[in-house]
Amino acid sequence: MAGERRILLVGLGLIGGSLAAALRAAGHRGEILACDRDSNEICLGQRMGLIDGGSTQLAALVPGASLIVLCVPVMAMQSVMAELAPLLEDDAVITDVGSTKGAIRDAALGVFGRMPPNLVLGHPIAGSEKSGVAASNPELYRDHKVILTPEPDSDVEAVARVAAMWSVCGAQLLSMSVARHDEVLARTSHLPHLLAFSLVDSLARQDERLEIFRYAAGGFRDFTRIAGSDPVMWRDVYLANRDAVLEALDEFEAGVARVRAAVTAGDGEAMLGIFTRASHARHYFNTLLKQTSYQTMEQQNVRYRALPGGQVQGRIRVPGDKSMSHRSIMLGALATGVTEVEGFLEGEDSLATLQAFRDMGVVIEGPHQGRVTIHGVGLNGLKQPPGPLYVGNSGTAMRLFAGLLAGQAFDTELTGDASLTKRPMDRVANPLREMGAVIDTADNGRPPLRIHGGQPLKGIRYEMPMASAQVKSCLLLAGLYAEGETRAIEPAPTRDHTERMLNGFGYKVERQGAEAWLNGGGSLEACPIDVPADISSATFFLVAAAITPGSDLVLEHVGINPTRIGVINILKAMGADLSVSNEREVGGEPVADLHIRYAPLKGIDIPEDQVPLAIDEFPALFIAAANAEGMTRLRGAEELRVKESDRIQVMADGLAQIGVEHEVVADGIDIRGGAYGGGLVDSHGDHRIAMAFSVAALRAQGEILIDDCANVATSFPNFVALAAEVGMQVENLGAVAPGQEAS
Ligand code: S3P
Repeated sequence: MAGERRILLVGLGLIGGSLAAALRAAGHRGEILACDRDSNEICLGQRMGLIDGGSTQLAALVPGASLIVLCVPVMAMQSVMAELAPLLEDDAVITDVGSTKGAIRDAALGVFGRMPPNLVLGHPIAGSEKSGVAASNPELYRDHKVILTPEPDSDVEAVARVAAMWSVCGAQLLSMSVARHDEVLARTSHLPHLLAFSLVDSLARQDERLEIFRYAAGGFRDFTRIAGSDPVMWRDVYLANRDAVLEALDEFEAGVARVRAAVTAGDGEAMLGIFTRASHARHYFNTLLKQTSYQTMEQQNVRYRALPGGQVQGRIRVPGDKSMSHRSIMLGALATGVTEVEGFLEGEDSLATLQAFRDMGVVIEGPHQGRVTIHGVGLNGLKQPPGPLYVGNSGTAMRLFAGLLAGQAFDTELTGDASLTKRPMDRVANPLREMGAVIDTADNGRPPLRIHGGQPLKGIRYEMPMASAQVKSCLLLAGLYAEGETRAIEPAPTRDHTERMLNGFGYKVERQGAEAWLNGGGSLEACPIDVPADISSATFFLVAAAITPGSDLVLEHVGINPTRIGVINILKAMGADLSVSNEREVGGEPVADLHIRYAPLKGIDIPEDQVPLAIDEFPALFIAAANAEGMTRLRGAEELRVKESDRIQVMADGLAQIGVEHEVVADGIDIRGGAYGGGLVDSHGDHRIAMAFSVAALRAQGEILIDDCANVATSFPNFVALAAEVGMQVENLGAVAPGQEAS
């Protein structure tokens, strides 16, 4: 970029002026000149300090220009190129900013007879309804996309120079073919503008148009804003990109016809299906594109600062159980009738599951304050989704989906975020293949999973090599579609929410000892579901209270399913003052209030039979161990290495940062309790590790900074607020460069 001795902007309006402004703001030293038919724009550009000079005549400006940017309307490109051609110097690179690319390439072919290697077409996806150099904005391109459409024989250096110019302005570069660009833009930009022009114009022709515009608010106002864009420019766009726009318009008209049919027939459910999918689309697709959680999409590294010495007092209810929230959507969707869910966890993992079912044609209302209404479609009522199903950070979702999708008539693909993409899926793919499913995985059995539909499944008897509720649940869900009996045998008891909930939906699952089995071919009937508070989320506060003198805390309405209460047993064995009261059963699951007060803890050997019953609670339990007297030993916990992170190693690294003595072994860890300091800990995007170290700060001798915390939102979106409510001092510092020390 530093090498551009003279940049020539041909056309000085909003786009060219903003480019000059951005280059100037970034400290570009070379000369910037502009050519425009309107000498007033040139004078204004000069007065604004954007350009060094200019003219209404190209001939005077081209000699000496190293980079020429064509910022004229698409329809004027050919005549500008013709004027430019005889004046060009050999090393000059040319680019443009036109919003269609095929027509501009045709113009270049007309003028030059071929695409010159030093002509690199481009399109900044940025703009404003304002026009003219007066509206120039140095930030117009920051964090906006610029698409370059180089040809196979484009000069590599020319492409690099154009890319460098846009990078300096803060833009993000993408590269695609001319044809692809025009198809994509027809749908994402040209069609929406066409609709805005047409809608506003048709309302403006009506008798009561004054009234309509007087009361224009909300939605219609947004249309009028878009319709306020430059008419000449847009006329040119539709002249230039006719075919792709007509194709997009055909798709749109088919969509409008579907809405019209639903309105005509008074088919509220069809309308809800369309509207609920659409209303979540923006969030969902952005997440999918970036393969991140919704939170990381907004901010690169979310850092928490946890201060020592807070309190842990009061009565709180933590959010709904994650495992049950996933299952409520899955079974509700496969049932006949309408399932009402209360207490649903509005965390990212369960929201991704919800959206995946919307993509398969299930109408789901909400969530709104934990309420979700699912219009079940029956076991065979799912429809093929329009693309891959994105399940974010959730191993549970991917493994359970694998089972239920293996039995569908259509093909599907399951993808997830960076953490999930590293986790083993062969543990479900292998037994599903034994049942007759056809599933492709990436290398080493990792996601994405491609599931080929239309395969007849047969029940199997499967002895699971690991204690995993996800594997068991996956097989039972596949078993719904299999011929005969599907039986899962677990090496140790694991959470049994799938079995309980299937029974609640009227689908018979039998259990005896380590075995659970069902017969395929039945059906599920909708039933109300009340999701209790998640004991895994409650754990952070249990440990917080257990280690902090003076604590007295009640956690209300916590699910205490016997397959989940390892944390209660382990904390009690360590000496915690923990009592369970107000026990009751809600929708087939036991629930209670947990009352915990501070008491000194002692180190123990954690009984191996408790490991599967506390599998998600170890990050927090390690912090309890760090505050206990003596040594706590964990063994038989190799499964922790394949959770959202390698929880043994990542916790050990964090403990090392704050000075807790420990020793790692293959299937566990020894932790010696004692005083520890503060420090900077990397959670590796693992929600439970981020929350565990937030709790550790209560007894630390200095503040603990925790990096990569955005995924706390997958299971506990209001963690920081609830921590504050009980008196802990955890602050979300927002986006901070990873690893950067405290200022
Ligand atoms: C879950 C099962 C557990 C647990 C996960 C949720 C479930 O995984 O760690 O957070 O909802 O079935 P495994 O069954 O793989 O141990």
